[in-house]
Amino acid sequence: MMTIALRLPPQVDLPDYQTQFGEFIGVGPNGNLWVDGCDVATLAATFGTPLYIISENQLRFTYRQFRDAFTSRYPDVEILFANKSSNGLAIRHIMNQEGAGGDCFGVNEMYLALLAGSNPKSLVLNGSNKQAEELEMAVHNGLCINIDAEDELDRIDEICRRLGKQADIGIRLKLDLEALRHRTGVAMHGAGTMKEQSDSTKWGMTREQTVAIVRRAQAMPHIHLCETHFHLSRMNNDPRDFAVMAREMIVWSAYLRDQTGWIPSCIDLGGGWTFGKPYGTGPGAQIDDASAPTPDDYAEHCCIAIKEEAAKLGLPLPKLRMEPGRAISGPSGIAVGQVGAVKQGQHKKWVNLDLSTNHLPWAGTMAWYYHAVPVVNSGVAGEELVDLVGPLCNSDEVGARRRMPPLHRGDLVAFLDTGGYTESCAARYNAQLLPATVLVRGDQAEIITEREQLKDVAGRFRVPPRLLAGSFAPAA
Ligand SMILES: Cc1ncc(COP(=O)(O)O)c(C=O)c1O
Repeated sequence: MMTIALRLPPQVDLPDYQTQFGEFIGVGPNGNLWVDGCDVATLAATFGTPLYIISENQLRFTYRQFRDAFTSRYPDVEILFANKSSNGLAIRHIMNQEGAGGDCFGVNEMYLALLAGSNPKSLVLNGSNKQAEELEMAVHNGLCINIDAEDELDRIDEICRRLGKQADIGIRLKLDLEALRHRTGVAMHGAGTMKEQSDSTKWGMTREQTVAIVRRAQAMPHIHLCETHFHLSRMNNDPRDFAVMAREMIVWSAYLRDQTGWIPSCIDLGGGWTFGKPYGTGPGAQIDDASAPTPDDYAEHCCIAIKEEAAKLGLPLPKLRMEPGRAISGPSGIAVGQVGAVKQGQHKKWVNLDLSTNHLPWAGTMAWYYHAVPVVNSGVAGEELVDLVGPLCNSDEVGARRRMPPLHRGDLVAFLDTGGYTESCAARYNAQLLPATVLVRGDQAEIITEREQLKDVAGRFRVPPRLLAGSFAPAA
């Protein structure tokens, strides 16, 4: 039987599971998989499958761990939840209640965050090609806009003058990252070392561009320079690599001070923080295993690096922002599918589920990413190696080579740690309908995203009148 060491407890009562897959997800009293106080088999029967389930308490707990790890080591910290990882309204409400800010990407994520009542001063707008409507909404509502294009400053300034408003801005940096020239993350975001990835992606402004933006902004009365920003989807298990980035941001601050006189009062380290689970998340268990850093590990390394570098360069300690997404939302969710056809081939067995790579988008490219367990008798070790597949017309492997008990039509399989980038990235390939999401707290379960219906898909299609009976109309 597996047991994981519990992490720091905020003021929420932890369920007492036979086996734990998280603080609020584990094997309950009847041997089934439970999310907080709810039996997942009952949730699947009540709400249908495929189904996403989010534990509210797990979400809060994980957020607090992250927050506490940094606030206990650093004087001024703001955690901005990366809304893209799970951008439903209920999730944003929970984050608001926790005091979390947010990273918004695009006009609709910004709109949703504002609709949920998030404090605009705790939201940032990121993006490499922000639309006029997007910039205007950000200026209207007072979000900090992280500039990532040379003409963005002028566009913001024009909007400010037209609306008679002030705007907070940050600048997204392209860090040098020499120290990460040979360091690699998970091959999630393409080939190359972390430096190569950072250099080759579209993100961030060079030192010269940053200096030019700062100098021009200093002459614009409507513009307030607030922060520098960096994000690289690193996804590796070494917190020292994050500390390298944090340190470089301070070095960049000193450079800006020397060139322009402006010292950023805030640095935003972006996201990419992993989350570790001793049980791993698949056969490869490449990142989410016992070696994965905890929030405390990240905080320890990053805060020391920032303090050391700031002292060395004679800079005041900036406010520290970061934008964790998957590390907060990931462990809070599971995805449940029901078994349909089971096929025994000559060399392997396929277990078809109604859950697909549409619903677990990363399973398609990283077969190891999610850990699968049967919903009934979840703690019992599997006997046979099977390919868990979805119903789509591609190979649709949601979990290749998984050890499972004998599964039959009607059984349920759950994938763990699917709270991030599943619903928000879900696709409709093969006109498959999007699942519902249920939020669980204690023994309460409520729908927070309705299951998509055929009308939602078919209703968007239009046929030009000339085509309606075109195949059958008499020739002119
Ligand atoms: C600017 C920015 N911040 C934060 C994040 C969140 O990253 P993660 O979910 O890996 O923490 C992303 C992800 O793409 C991002 O682009």
